[in-house]
Amino acid sequence: MSIELNHVSFCYDSHTADEIAALREVELFIGDGEFVGIMGHTGCGKTTLAQLVAGLLTPLAGAVKIDGADINKKGYDRKLLRKKVGFVFQYPEHQLFETTVEREVAFGIKNSGLSKGEQKERVRAALECMGFPFEKIRKESPLSFSGGEKRRIAIAGAIVSEPDILILDEPTAGLDAKSRASFHKIMVKLNHRKATVLWISHDADSLCEYAGRILVLEKGKVVMDGTPREVFADPAKTEQYQIGAGRVRVISEMLQKQGFRFRQEPIRYRELLDGLCNHFKGRNVIGE
Ligand SMILES: Nc1ncnc2c1ncn2[C@@H]1O[C@H](COP(=O)(O)OP(=O)(O)O)[C@@H](O)[C@H]1O
Ligand SMILES: [Mg+2]
Repeated sequence: MSIELNHVSFCYDSHTADEIAALREVELFIGDGEFVGIMGHTGCGKTTLAQLVAGLLTPLAGAVKIDGADINKKGYDRKLLRKKVGFVFQYPEHQLFETTVEREVAFGIKNSGLSKGEQKERVRAALECMGFPFEKIRKESPLSFSGGEKRRIAIAGAIVSEPDILILDEPTAGLDAKSRASFHKIMVKLNHRKATVLWISHDADSLCEYAGRILVLEKGKVVMDGTPREVFADPAKTEQYQIGAGRVRVISEMLQKQGFRFRQEPIRYRELLDGLCNHFKGRNVIGE
């Protein structure tokens, strides 16, 4: 499902002395099934953009269109929007409130018109997709799980309606390496099911690995828009917009200072490894 922003501007506390322009005339088209990373330093407008797409905020000017339809036009079915767009907030585990995992995840489809049996199957599928054994945990309290697990439960709650668009606002912030890795696999799985994914993150390595496109925001404007390779090709720009280089980039720069030559600048771990293997091909590295 496509997402379109036509000259979208948004201000918090508009028409007051405290007015803050969070987005300025953003023009954007994201095609059906794209996996898009959104980067930029704190306060540049990432969360505001995501909330506008989810219909949680209304633009001050311009139009937000999902599948070609203006979601803020009178008569647009907001119920349909909630079904189409899944939104995972920053630290979603703070918003768990039901008494059992099953009830928690089912909340989003409570009034969907699905039968009780269908709802249960949806909840089972969402939890299994997040790596949980449904029968074993369905009656447990969501609050009895670890931080990473709670986050996965919250995400199950966002995908249970089988949204066509999934928006994740820094979904891996504060998670340990193992939870992050399992998370990345889930993300790819969802995208393979044809969901359009918007993933807000500061993690350059992960976005280079999984996103097909990266948007960089700065002071409420989209200042870069391209493939990960295009976005990270210019170190001066990544520094200017404070999006940081991933570890792959840092290691490859260190190696190049030592005289390594890569056929192509690596941006993914696989490419870094391939470059290294290529360099050492035919040499007895150990004990050399
Ligand atoms: N609820 C709010 N009330 C007032 N100002 C806000 C609110 N949320 C965000 N802002 C301001 O809007 C701008 C963009 O914020 P945000 O979209 O949260 O950025 P990001 O997610 O990139 O950190 C910032 O200047 C921020 O301080
Ligand atoms: Mg934010």
